[in-house]
Amino acid sequence: TDDILKNVVSHAKEYGFVFPSSEIYDGLSAVYDYGQLGSELKNNIKTYWWKSMVQLNENIVGIDSAIFMHPKIWKASGHVDGFNDPMIDNKDSKKRYRADQLIEDKITRYERDGKTDKAAQLQNDLDQAIKDDDLGRLKAIIEDHGIVCPISGTKNWTDVRQFNLMFSTKMGATAEGAEDVYLRPETAQGIFVNFLNVQKSGRMRIPFGIAQIGKAFRNEVIARQFIMRMREFEQMEMQFFVRPGTEMEWYEKWKAARLKWHLALGSNSERYRFHDHVKPAHYANAAVDIEFDFPFGFKEVEGIHSRTDFDLKQHQEFSGKKMQFFDPEINQSYIPYVIETSIGLDRMFLTVLCNAFEEQDLSTEDKKDSRTVLHIHPALAPVKAAILPLTKKDGLPEKARELMDELKLDFNIQYDEKDSIGKRYRRQDAIGTPICITIDHQTLEDNTVTLRHRDSMEQERVKLDDINGILQKTTGW
Ligand code: GAP
Repeated sequence: TDDILKNVVSHAKEYGFVFPSSEIYDGLSAVYDYGQLGSELKNNIKTYWWKSMVQLNENIVGIDSAIFMHPKIWKASGHVDGFNDPMIDNKDSKKRYRADQLIEDKITRYERDGKTDKAAQLQNDLDQAIKDDDLGRLKAIIEDHGIVCPISGTKNWTDVRQFNLMFSTKMGATAEGAEDVYLRPETAQGIFVNFLNVQKSGRMRIPFGIAQIGKAFRNEVIARQFIMRMREFEQMEMQFFVRPGTEMEWYEKWKAARLKWHLALGSNSERYRFHDHVKPAHYANAAVDIEFDFPFGFKEVEGIHSRTDFDLKQHQEFSGKKMQFFDPEINQSYIPYVIETSIGLDRMFLTVLCNAFEEQDLSTEDKKDSRTVLHIHPALAPVKAAILPLTKKDGLPEKARELMDELKLDFNIQYDEKDSIGKRYRRQDAIGTPICITIDHQTLEDNTVTLRHRDSMEQERVKLDDINGILQKTTGW
């Protein structure tokens, strides 16, 4: 299964989806750049989320708050004191690890070896230690189970320590005047501190939501599994403000709605599951992950949290400004409770690639053949159609360009006249283009073209005039 991930990673690089950051300088750990097709795919995922959250819900609006925020915000939110990972160093290799992840890897190994009882027991121990914030217990577990450093192979461990995940930098020009500010580790706080601005200016009434897409930064102790765990990443978050006492009802509603959103992309429902948190983050009283079956196992792609009135209350206390809503229906002022849905855009991107990637055997009795194809949902596909003149002469390129000029106003289209038609189809399969349009000599006579479909590889003859409509229908939302 590690091979599948390797293939996805190298495919993503080869075709311009994702590059390691600063590659000519040997890269920067856990930072990635999105290439020409990756940024298209990313934009399409954002659009899918934004449309379904903001456009389809009359009571949800979107904002775009700044990455830099007043440093007190992170005191109030609890991130300065509580946003930590337990980490441990190996004294021989001098490598640093997240203690809980070392243990999780051991659990996976027990599972792979068929030692399911042992795996379950260890999972219990780990959950308990995390629930109790018991760093000594984490170390004891690592020692009891003989967990070795993947680099040095030794068990020579330091104690487990807490490590804050926030990046900080200086704001202001002079050394004396400069103030420490943080790069936000979640976009949510930008929503909380604007809660009243949006409520008042938008005349919003509870229940209502505020959505936002933006960068977040975390100094992750270890970088792993490609774009799963990055130091700079993007979140798509929505805070839904509700009347106190109704939060669990909304928690259940959003849980169901968010899973439905994932499945609406046509993915196999067996690759998704819920995972309840034994110890929700410091701000939440209930939390569940939507997990996806990645090549390296089921892992979180989205979190749904019941954040109570924790954040708004904290901001009221730290800022001295009232964070209340007057509810005309019950004639009362209160600090709303919040249900949050929070999905990592990059992780979502990886689920799309993992779901889509296939190395398909097309061999027949007399011929070996195969293709690499990305079965990306057509609405998310970076390129919607490719226009391919059969030959480079006889006026076919000109005819193809005419079609291109018309379609490119509505769709992201590629034009390709190089190599055989078969090779060109394969190139488009590899980047997930749902439709190829071939212009041939007959096109000049009767204005029809060959339409070739990515997944079925079936071909049909259609009128030039019908193409725009067909593309709207297949690749539209
Ligand atoms: N506002 C709540 C919050 O930030 P979280 O569970 O810490 O909750 C939410 O993060 C989502 O952000 C995760 O489900 C994951 O998809 C994404 N995410 C978190 N850390 C990440 C990282 N280092 N790299 C990529 N995505 C990450």
